[in-house]
Formats: sequence, structure tokens, C-alpha cells
Amino acid sequence: MTAARKIIIDTDPGQDDALAILLALASPELEVLGITAVAGNVPLALTEKNARKVCELAGRPGTKVFAGAARPLLRDLVTAEEVHGRTGLDGPDLPEPQMPLQDRHAVDFIIETLLAHESGEVTLCPLGPLTNIALAIAREPRIVPRIGEIVLMGGGFFEGGNVTPSAEFNIYVDPHAADIVLRSGAPIVMMPLDVTHKALTTRKRVAALRDLGTKVGIAAAEMLDFFERFDEQKYGTDGGPLHDPCVIAYLLKPELFAGRLCNVAVETGSELTMGMTVVDWWRVTDRPQNALVMRDIDHDGFFALLTERLARL
Ligand code: RIB
Ligand code: CA
Repeated sequence: MTAARKIIIDTDPGQDDALAILLALASPELEVLGITAVAGNVPLALTEKNARKVCELAGRPGTKVFAGAARPLLRDLVTAEEVHGRTGLDGPDLPEPQMPLQDRHAVDFIIETLLAHESGEVTLCPLGPLTNIALAIAREPRIVPRIGEIVLMGGGFFEGGNVTPSAEFNIYVDPHAADIVLRSGAPIVMMPLDVTHKALTTRKRVAALRDLGTKVGIAAAEMLDFFERFDEQKYGTDGGPLHDPCVIAYLLKPELFAGRLCNVAVETGSELTMGMTVVDWWRVTDRPQNALVMRDIDHDGFFALLTERLARL
């Protein structure tokens, strides 16, 4: 077996983040070097605690969890308790974490890890606002050519936005950070709403997780029962979109996804379209093709992978 792929998960748990972390920790193809928390769905004090709760749920209390930015680069923090609940991880009743939070700041950990590893060896997996990633790039530009790949959940184009008519939450919360990352030159794979809205947590799929009968399976189903209600009402669908695990599933089975190398730029001026990701899908400009933008997913294969892997925890 080839050596496990080294990744850093940057995250704002969030129930969908939690399932992405569980999927990563359950998969031997991946080595999670660390989990860096950022303010997003809920404030940082909760996202870092939730990250530790999920590591303990996975039976991996030795995972290194770091706290990062408590607010976006320039704009005020916008959170999403209406979707994720007051704790950010409503649904299951998970115990207070016993594992420690690391002392180092998340941004220092990201920089030091990229400088300490061979160029290209480490993949960054942002699942929330891109504040930590942008700060690392701004603080130490030497890391950019050393980044193997940035595989992120964020943005939307044909699907529009989910927090405003034109912007997706992760990009909207910190559009200036997204601008730094998109202009950085690092190789980017983007999982926008165009693809995550095709991965719906239907009743049948949630039941398959609950029917695992394990602590992890039951907790995952409880998270989704809570998390999906907001989007089910909003979109009138059976289940809600399962955004963040698409990032980890791409690392495990890229063939589940299809997309196109495009230019992606982000709006940071107009309040009307603040945080909008403008995707040159039809290549009508000569702007650099800076991101592989995913638009399609084998959603049955995705949920089969997710369920099979969570069964291992
Ligand atoms: O818009 C969906 C994204 O915003 C997901 O990452 C979800 O966890 C929230 O952070
Ligand atoms: Ca997230």
C-alpha cells in the first residue's frame, strides 16, 4: 500500500464538518497531521471544542487540534446557529472533550508543517471560512509552492448562494481570505454548492448510518437529523446537502466527482454580491484557470463510501 496522504483539515464544526472529520479519521489512505479550527458556523471557542468532541467520538483522542482565527480578516464574524444549533453540533449529546487543545496557534501549525515536510507532501482541506489559510499564506508566502493541493468546500455558481442570493457561507464569511487563497497560485480543487447540493441526506441514507448501530453511526444520524431540517424546509427536498464530506471523499475516490478547470474570482467590493464566486465555466475570459471546479457527483457512491468508512469506527 502506498504511503498515506498527509492532510490538514481546517474546519468550523458544524455537523457536516464533523462527518468529514469522521470520514478522514476512518480512512487509512489519509494521515491527519492536524485539525485547525476557525470561527464560522459558530464562534471559535465552540468550533475548536467540537473538533475535539468529534475526534473523541472517532476514538482518536491523540489527534492534534489547534485553534486559529476567531474572526474574518476584515469583516465581522457571521455565524449559522440557525442551521447548526447553539453548540454548532446539536443533535447527539456528546461529552465534554478530555483531550487537550494544542498550545500552538493553528496558523503557526499550518506554516511549520508545510515548511517541515517535502514540497507537495501536504494537502490542505478547508471546510469553513478560509481565514486560517489566508493568514498562513500572508504570514509566510514561502509555503505556497510547498502546498500539495488545497481541496476546499466553498463557493457556488450555477446554484447561486446559500447565505445570500449570490454567496455561499464559507466564502461570504471571509471573502478577503478567499481572495488571497484563490489568487495564491496554489493548486485548488473546489467543492461548491453546485456539487454538494446533489449529495442529499435522504431518509434512507440517514437510516443506513443509524442502522450501523455503532456509537459513531447513531451520532452521525443524530447530527444529520438536526442539521438537515433547515435545508429540507428551505429547499423542499428529502434531506439536506452534505457539503464538507465531499472534500474528503474526493481525496479517497476522485472518480466520484466531475468538474472543469476554470478561473474562479471572488467579489470583495459590492455588498450586493459580496463573497460571490464568479466561475468562468465557459472560459470567456483569459483569467488564469486557478481551480478545478466540481459540478457532478456519484451521490450513491458517495454515501456508500461514507457509510462503509464510518462503520469502521
Ligand atoms: O455553505 C456550506 C458550508 O458552510 C459548510 O462548510 C458548512 O459547514 C458551513 O461551514
Ligand atoms: Ca464547514
